[in-house]
Amino acid sequence: MTSKRVLSGIQPTGNLHLGNYLGAIKNFVTMQNDYECFYMLADLHAITVSVNPDELRENILNTAATFLACGLDEKKNIIFCQSQVQAHSELSWILNCIARVGWLNRMTQFKEKAGSNKEKASVGLYTYPILMAADILIYQATHVPVGEDQKQHLELCRDIATKFNNDYKSDFFTIPEPIIPKSVARIMSLRDGTKKMSKSEESDLSRINLTDSKDQIMQKVKKAKTDSEPINERILALDTKRYEAQNLIKIYASLNSESPEKIIKNFDGKSFSDFKNSLAELLVEKISPISDKIKEYKNDKEQLIKILKNGNEQASNTANKTIIEVKKIVGLI
Ligand code: ADP
Ligand code: TRP
Repeated sequence: MTSKRVLSGIQPTGNLHLGNYLGAIKNFVTMQNDYECFYMLADLHAITVSVNPDELRENILNTAATFLACGLDEKKNIIFCQSQVQAHSELSWILNCIARVGWLNRMTQFKEKAGSNKEKASVGLYTYPILMAADILIYQATHVPVGEDQKQHLELCRDIATKFNNDYKSDFFTIPEPIIPKSVARIMSLRDGTKKMSKSEESDLSRINLTDSKDQIMQKVKKAKTDSEPINERILALDTKRYEAQNLIKIYASLNSESPEKIIKNFDGKSFSDFKNSLAELLVEKISPISDKIKEYKNDKEQLIKILKNGNEQASNTANKTIIEVKKIVGLI
């Protein structure tokens, strides 16, 4: 086994947005040069809520196209579909028997996603973090790049791996480390700086999709909520209530790979209307080439299917080795 191995995944549930890009995919791209990387379309996670099969099929290919358009190289990484590597589901069952109900009951994402009607949520939505642990552990991943909202799931994965190792008196599973970008761990909605930018948010004005046109980007930035104060260093103070202002500064900084402090210095004393013009230009410069490439990749579905098929085979080779070992350790003959 190599010493540094990365696994991460994104659910193919719709168009990916700036939060997914800055919080996760940008890191995937950086890591491809230094690590052996497995990047997965988490399609089994996508069916924990009801989805239309035709839409799911379409979204799987869209998300694969987005990975490639953002700069993930299929020759350097293993890009694959979770549902096509059976060992994920097999390990998930075994880990279901390791994880404790009390641990799952603490998961905040389930509480948020299930909302007030928990009894009607699927069992899959509840056990979702266990499948996620299986995704990671089946590759013995050492590092997992994710946005901050997945941190709790990563901690659960570490607890499951540790309990397995203790229960079976082995050091079989590698305990993975999360990689969470500091300043952009959570990109917020353009309409409400207290909510995260999300595919599931109703208003499309709340997010920049990676498929947005130049005009859409310009319009969304123009309409983004801000406040009437000029730009100054207080924006970053911990006790600030200027959530929207803070978010826009962080987006600019992250797109330009600079610190928020530096951006504030450059725009010190300027109004948000001036800043928004520069931000819109920067977003168009960074996002438009991605959106053009997504279109190109989507036009060649056969090529996308071929890339995934190849990735599925390679991922299966590694995953199958782990599940054989796990079964032996557990006593499944
Ligand atoms: P969504 O919440 O929009 O459905 P996913 O749950 O599929 O997105 O998230 C895919 C990846 O993108 C995860 O690593 C997640 O942490 C990251 N991510 C999602 N939304 C954001 C955000 N607003 N800011 C930073 N990272 C995000
Ligand atoms: N749960 C993650 C999300 O919604 C997606 C995911 C599934 C994942 N399996 C994973 C992320 C394994 C990292 C590692 O964003």
